[in-house]
Amino acid sequence: MRTMARPASCPDRVNILLIGSGGREHALAQKLRQSPRLGRLWTTLPSNPGILSIAEPCPVALDLRAPFHVRRFLERESIGLVVVGPEAALADGVADVLAGESTLIFGPTRAAARIEADKAYAKSLMRQAAVPTAEGRIFEHMDAAMEFVRTRDEPCVVKAAGLAAGKGVVVCDGAADAVVAIERMMARREFGDAGARIIVEERLQGQELSILAFVDGRTIWLLDAAQDHKQVGEGDTGPNTGGMGAYSPTPLLDEETLAIIEREVFVPTVDALRRDEAVFRGVLYAGMMLTPGGPKVLEFNCRFGDPECQALLPRLKGDLVEICWATAAGRLDEVSFTFDPRTACCVVVCAPGYPGNPEKGAVISGLAELEKDAAARDDLFVYHAGTTTTRGGDIVTSGGRVVAVTALADTLADARARANEACARVRFKGAFFRRDIGFRAEPGWTPRRLPAPAVTTSAGFSGASSETRATSAG
Ligand code: AMP
Ligand code: GLY
Repeated sequence: MRTMARPASCPDRVNILLIGSGGREHALAQKLRQSPRLGRLWTTLPSNPGILSIAEPCPVALDLRAPFHVRRFLERESIGLVVVGPEAALADGVADVLAGESTLIFGPTRAAARIEADKAYAKSLMRQAAVPTAEGRIFEHMDAAMEFVRTRDEPCVVKAAGLAAGKGVVVCDGAADAVVAIERMMARREFGDAGARIIVEERLQGQELSILAFVDGRTIWLLDAAQDHKQVGEGDTGPNTGGMGAYSPTPLLDEETLAIIEREVFVPTVDALRRDEAVFRGVLYAGMMLTPGGPKVLEFNCRFGDPECQALLPRLKGDLVEICWATAAGRLDEVSFTFDPRTACCVVVCAPGYPGNPEKGAVISGLAELEKDAAARDDLFVYHAGTTTTRGGDIVTSGGRVVAVTALADTLADARARANEACARVRFKGAFFRRDIGFRAEPGWTPRRLPAPAVTTSAGFSGASSETRATSAG
């Protein structure tokens, strides 16, 4: 990566190129727009109508095999900062390719993005750095993986090592499930090359939380915790999705546990990345499980979560242009920000068929009125995710997650009620959303589904081979 002569502090005006076209990027665009430092804001195509209403379309295709045109565009328009939303672009090396004399990149290099793009790398890094995580083994050969799970009939999780658009993880009750998952990944290659290597790890139990931090390579600034609801059905039932909704903050995490996560997860991970000469400048996201044995990492992501971003940014009290610039410049120690004490609840309106094959092309009504109402308030935010504009000017569905709505209120119950009310105003054929986002934070809640048998020992994993034993402290 080329290095640049870095200005001493964030310039008064910064032109920005935002990469990505979903709800997360619409939330980023809205927050960047609030900054007095924002010059021109550009969005890569295809974008969504929400982003296009507040950003200019970048006339050049983001083709990393021929980056010359994008680089010329960055220079011509004096774009000082590129903010990258999605993991795929980061894994492809967008940060390495676009960094220039006068352009900073908010998002890790390809080497550092491996923490998400290669789960086997992430697992090894966690072992070396003694970061608490599920005990697990990495397999390159199907026979060995099959033998491993058949000889240990205990709940496990099978993961494709590569990027699989959030679908390459199968939570198994026992050997029979695991055998099927391994076969799908390694023999049938359902996730393509992502399944060439897999990880089989112990199945953990506990509450799942998303802990995100701005990281500038050295300095770590943790954001308030969020909880995402990945399963499609109310009560956390049915298949996994990209995320049906999220809320923040959460009463499930106390200050002490957050401090443990910072000390035992973020600090050693960022140190280990630096030792690997992998420059991480962007958002590091730890998917955590609060287990009876302490918090443990399920996965790392190298970018903002979607929809966690839509729940976190409305609460962020700070200048996002300055924060992103400082993160990208390695000067995060020079900025500060706080969070609105109100609770944010983000609910995602989805298309029928999601998460399988969502129906597309349905005309959406009620959205423009809702956006108008939201624009006049400080506690309601509407984000386009899977929408597009037809030639005739209609806004239609173009993806599984169509629109995300975030409401802020003094209590989670009020925030959820307002978000649900707003989501009901977004109408198209077969639209659905979960009305229970945040239910896990509610005292007295009992799961509708019986939990899987508790994992009381991980002997099957840690005893399997000293060569692959985790050195985790957890
Ligand atoms: P990941 O993409 O690695 O976060 O996995 C997707 C989902 O699978 C997570 O959000 C968890 O709900 C579940 N999961 C992943 N790893 C484990 C594990 N070791 N134990 C239990 N559940 C897991
Ligand atoms: N909401 C989960 C993710 O962004 O990976």
